Amino acid sequence: MKPLNILVLHGPNLNLLGTREPETYGSESLNDINCSLQDLGEKLGAKVQCFQSNHEGALVDAVHQAHLDNVDGIVINPAAYTHTSIALRDALLGVQIPFIEVHLSNVHAREAFRHTSRIADIAIGIIAGFGSNSYHLALRGLIQHNTTRSTNESY
Ligand code: DQA
Repeated sequence: MKPLNILVLHGPNLNLLGTREPETYGSESLNDINCSLQDLGEKLGAKVQCFQSNHEGALVDAVHQAHLDNVDGIVINPAAYTHTSIALRDALLGVQIPFIEVHLSNVHAREAFRHTSRIADIAIGIIAGFGSNSYHLALRGLIQHNTTRSTNESY
């Protein structure tokens, strides 16, 4: 079977992982997380590509490109843009690629402005609060979602 094509998108300030507020976001670097996701993808039959940007438009462009590249699913941590970006919401709606929203921290246990998401209602699901493992759980969920969809099974 052809490997699934998965894109992992990281929003602003996630390039600082490892040194940024480690008590909230953990000690792993973004590169550590990306490598572990690629390893997990390989085990589960998926090709995982990762992209980070501090710029909203670059993330929108990456979502559009995903459509042109026939990406099967997206794992996205939009970071602060989660709470603000209608542009990212519209891009995700525009391409209709199934996606999972991810957060390292439990955003609902933090400041009120982090309790809202512009994309949660159009996501397959949301995973938050498990540190870097949030990404792994999302990747597993996305692969399972795509596999069950293509074989017409339900959960
Ligand atoms: C975050 C939570 C956001 O509120 C915050 O702006 C981030 C990271 C997380 O992964 O926990 O930058 O998305």
